[in-house]
Amino acid sequence: MNDETTERLLDGLILLASRSPSPHNTQPWSPHIVRDGADPVPTVEVCVVPSRTLPAGDPSFRDVVLALGGWVESFAIGAAEAGYDAEVEALPQLSRLEELPLTGPADAAMPVLRLRLVPRLAAKAGGGHSSQGARAGTDATRGDAAAHPVDESAAPRPFTADDVRERAVYRGRLIGHPATWDDLSDVDLPPWLTLRRLDDRAMAYLSRLGIAFTASRPSIAKELLHWLRLDPAHPNYTKDGMTDTMLGVPAPLARLAAPATRWRSIRNPLLGVAGVVGRTAESLERARTLRPLALSLAESQDESPTHLVLVANARLAALDDGPRITAAMDSRIGVAEPDALEAGRALQRLWLHAHTRGLVVSPHSELIDSPLAHGLLRKRLSLGRSDVALSVFSAGVAAGAVQRSPRLTDARPARARTATPRPTAAPR
Ligand SMILES: Cc1cc2nc3c(=O)[nH]c(=O)nc-3n(C[C@H](O)[C@H](O)[C@H](O)COP(=O)(O)O)c2cc1C
Repeated sequence: MNDETTERLLDGLILLASRSPSPHNTQPWSPHIVRDGADPVPTVEVCVVPSRTLPAGDPSFRDVVLALGGWVESFAIGAAEAGYDAEVEALPQLSRLEELPLTGPADAAMPVLRLRLVPRLAAKAGGGHSSQGARAGTDATRGDAAAHPVDESAAPRPFTADDVRERAVYRGRLIGHPATWDDLSDVDLPPWLTLRRLDDRAMAYLSRLGIAFTASRPSIAKELLHWLRLDPAHPNYTKDGMTDTMLGVPAPLARLAAPATRWRSIRNPLLGVAGVVGRTAESLERARTLRPLALSLAESQDESPTHLVLVANARLAALDDGPRITAAMDSRIGVAEPDALEAGRALQRLWLHAHTRGLVVSPHSELIDSPLAHGLLRKRLSLGRSDVALSVFSAGVAAGAVQRSPRLTDARPARARTATPRPTAAPR
């Protein structure tokens, strides 16, 4: 493959990866193809866009790094389909995101990731599954992407580029299908990541606490409003953020609320009211006691959605790796950033696992963002000191139509976009 063909492939993979999920649909990544480095073949470097991070809602950059992980996984899935493994190098800047300015464009001189294509056969020894190259390029075998890839003996991948394009979050009513989560062999979770089940009652209670927290912190609520797109007249309606249709807000209500997302004179009094309501709800709710988890799980109705928590064990992730233990202790996420990146890759595989079985997910980061809800969640799941809850989401069959979310790349030529949304399949 010559440089031009490699570049065309990389360009298509970047376009594919842009369909990855991100908090509030911020799309915090800024990838660019690097041609003139020491490498003989073009590589991709990814920077973080400060104005697309959430300093109030995601001060630890947990969701940014998880989203970058999802981006890498999508890129790797597309690369595998083209006969390549994606060798991923987590650069030191990934662990220093707090040095980024609060807002502004990406700085191309400060990439957080570097990705290189390696023919699948050549990479097999070290890069078998998608997640294995995430650690600063230590595991993956370096190959020559200029050679023609040989794909025959590479292991088949469970997810396709079309799955990446078609997957979507759904925030309406979910009908549970717990059996979907019994076999996760296609997800291939690393041993330090586990998926725990949360009962309906705790989920509803902790989500209320989390929403009350968001509403009562003006900086977080303001950030959320900034990323809402409740009117097609919003200049970024077709580019980013969360639209009325994605959120399932009826059009008349959305149009009524839309000015609050854009005009300070309406937004500020609204935030004041939300603050009072949120704080009142938080203090009323905090006194509640819940039935024991096992009892409550046993009582769960089959048709209620499955609530899942992705938990990382920082000690297991850093096993026999002293600097990594220090990195985990230094990280505000609770696990070293390269591990959080790998968790983001696994999270994308979990969401694709749901997608390929006709299910959708509805994330609930508010359970981790609210210190009160987070503390109760840890207690509910009996998490140990090294356990870090990274993501909470509900899963089930969508009771309504699943909407496609916009991307900054939607206006680009449709060279790599082929898929039309697949109708929701019956769960397998
Ligand atoms: C790390 C992470 C955290 C997220 N947290 C939430 C959340 O708390 N609530 C929610 O409704 N969506 C959440 N999302 C989903 C995004 O809003 C969604 O991915 C984005 O709007 C794009 O939509 P799509 O995934 O349907 O393409 C999260 C996504 C990621 C990657």
